[in-house]
Amino acid sequence: MAQDRLRILILGSAAGGGLPQWNCGCRNCVKARRGEIPSRSQSSIAVSADGETWAVVNASPDIRAQLTASPALHPSGPRASPIRGVLLTNGDIDHVAGLLTLREQQRFSLYHTSEIGAVLRDNRIFDALNPELVQRRTIVLGEQVEIAPGVTAEMFAVPGKVPLFMEEGEVQTNLEGEQTVGVRLDAGGASAFYIPGCARMTGALAERLRGAELVLFDGTLWQNDEMIRTGVGRKTGTRMGHMTMQGPDGSLRAFADLGVTRKVYIHINNTNPVLDPETPERRAVEDAGWIVAEDGMELTP
Ligand code: MLT
Ligand code: MN
Ligand code: ZN
Repeated sequence: MAQDRLRILILGSAAGGGLPQWNCGCRNCVKARRGEIPSRSQSSIAVSADGETWAVVNASPDIRAQLTASPALHPSGPRASPIRGVLLTNGDIDHVAGLLTLREQQRFSLYHTSEIGAVLRDNRIFDALNPELVQRRTIVLGEQVEIAPGVTAEMFAVPGKVPLFMEEGEVQTNLEGEQTVGVRLDAGGASAFYIPGCARMTGALAERLRGAELVLFDGTLWQNDEMIRTGVGRKTGTRMGHMTMQGPDGSLRAFADLGVTRKVYIHINNTNPVLDPETPERRAVEDAGWIVAEDGMELTP
């Protein structure tokens, strides 16, 4: 084995829709189209211990372009992808639609909770993944599973909701179970947490993250009514199942005393002012010790 050290590659740092989003003319989307701020693809990371074999966590609709842009993930020969596993943290479109791009007769294992597995099973389009090659593995919360050689993953519940396309009636946005999970990744004695969606900080989650070396965390919105303020929608962060950065219940305050060595915002919505390096909001998160992720960024705890 070449090394044995946890490597995390940010494949996509944006929330669903990406930056720019196809139908959006908000300030950030306009700037991204002009090349004034970096464009970002949708939510995904790749992880490795040996630098040669990898697992992808969340398969975004942009996965084809993300893999093309990442030399470490290129095939080494005909039908020889270095990707050994794919793990899902929820059933949202930005995290599962990329599975359809991975349908081309490649062997890998797919890891998910039983609830997220049911979302795939109930949507027959995912049968395009040949079961002789793509082994679906239902993982119990708290179980340790090797998703790529030398990389162990453990899923844990975080507050969230069912996927947008499964919402019915009164939507519960604070469910804690198997529909939204965070994942702890371990390799070569180093560890990191990846939590792209989280509706609120709970006491249990705070204790889990306390003193961590590296946390990649839900950076969807700066403030709760941001989509309304920017004129792109009517939903609040609370309704979408995402805690905000700012405010008394925001992630800036929630992490202030957790002693996390490196804090990285990922899954950032295109309306979020922190995407623009010129804004006071960006300065505020950097002053609080946060890194705003960009596509292609590599992190080692
Ligand atoms: C989210 O993170 O809230 C979802 O990705 C929204 C969506 O499915 O578009
Ligand atoms: Mn999302
Ligand atoms: Zn926009």
